Amino acid sequence: MPECLICGSSVEEFMSFGQMPIANAFLNQEEFSSEFFFELRIGFCSRCAMLQLTELVDREKLFHESYAYFSSISLRMEAHFKQFAESVMKTKLDSADPFVLEIGSNDGIMLRHFADRGIRHLGVEPSENVARAAMEKGVNTTCRFFDKDLASEIRSEYGQADAILAANVMCHIPYLHSVADAVASLMKPDGVFIFEDPYLGDIVEKTAYDQIYDEHAFYFSVSSLSNLFGQYDLEIVNIEPQSVHGGSMRYTVARKGAVTAASSVARQKDREHSNGLRDLATFHQFKRNIETSRDDLLKILHREKEENRRIVGYGATSKSTTVLNYCGIDNRLIDFISDTTSTKQGKFSPGMHIPIRPYEEFVNDYPEYALLFAWNHGQEIMEKEKPYSAQGGRFIVYVPSVKIMA
Ligand code: SAH
Ligand code: TYD
Repeated sequence: MPECLICGSSVEEFMSFGQMPIANAFLNQEEFSSEFFFELRIGFCSRCAMLQLTELVDREKLFHESYAYFSSISLRMEAHFKQFAESVMKTKLDSADPFVLEIGSNDGIMLRHFADRGIRHLGVEPSENVARAAMEKGVNTTCRFFDKDLASEIRSEYGQADAILAANVMCHIPYLHSVADAVASLMKPDGVFIFEDPYLGDIVEKTAYDQIYDEHAFYFSVSSLSNLFGQYDLEIVNIEPQSVHGGSMRYTVARKGAVTAASSVARQKDREHSNGLRDLATFHQFKRNIETSRDDLLKILHREKEENRRIVGYGATSKSTTVLNYCGIDNRLIDFISDTTSTKQGKFSPGMHIPIRPYEEFVNDYPEYALLFAWNHGQEIMEKEKPYSAQGGRFIVYVPSVKIMA
């Protein structure tokens, strides 16, 4: 049995999604024959309650000079990170010359607000292209992977941080012990580490299995994270549920004893206990729910295709790579995937090789159905696509359940 990356105990592998390409590796036709595949497998550690991948892809294959994900693709995410930054500025930066560090700062979506106010800051971002986009916005960025060694270099150059921030990146880092250790040494005695990631409770409840892909090494709960931080004299002192990315949790971590933990932290752990998020049986049921979701989706797609309806994918998300490859949805079912990211356009989806086309092609020739891969941006998209719906276009969704939206 594989070993838990957090506590070393054995992990019960309960599901394989089969051979998978790299979720964000949109490719050209001449690259089809050399495409990289690995087996996407997932397991649960009953001892520390951490859900995790049991086969990992090298980080250099995932994060590099042509990383496909630019954070600033969504207006809602822009607004979300502006608010996040403002709440940190308002409540956590009362020292004379504060320093803010962000791990996985991508194109500067959050740090640019600190840069704009002249606050000392540093972004750690290993993917060169997105790091460059951040620097062009005036965001001070180092193009490296965050770990213990880099943390000590940062500490000597900048001193300790008032606030260390991270969004949708902690769950990407398999060597979390090095990160927790680095955070403990980089944070001021009264500093905070605030991070958010998709929340395990939402993933299980909504059967959002498309959150499972190569970059997401972990699927966090308050219980599993408390075990990790406890080993570094750190503790979770606050939690704030967020609606982004289909349901996320924001965690505030401080040195043990520095702040009184909010009662919501213990309450959430109790809730996780009663909701079965610490029980292997929950994940066996999760697997059955995933299989049902796949069968239901395929039924709709085949039925509508037999009626000669056109189906187009909406949003070439990394998440869609799991759905397409696990369900075996190819170009015979979906004509193309529409996406607003210029670097994805003209390429093909990983594994299933469905063409990615500019958004204008969707607008200029509306299909009968749009399969909503970017379901986490559903509200923003439904609002924007009122003209599509008004002329009879329909969205097919699969989270939280498979259905054609009325
Ligand atoms: N924070 C942004 C980006 C999330 S995508 C947002 O929420 O939209 C994850 C980002 O983390 C990518 O830009 C990736 O290059 C970066 N990343 C991956 N591993 C990292 C590591 N070990 N240290 C720092 N950044 C990392
Ligand atoms: P997202 O769901 O944020 O992330 P992930 O890749 O982590 O699964 O990706 C959204 C994708 O959808 C991105 O490639 C841009 C695209 N998109 C559109 O094409 N139109 C839109 O209106 C929005 C909001 C996103």
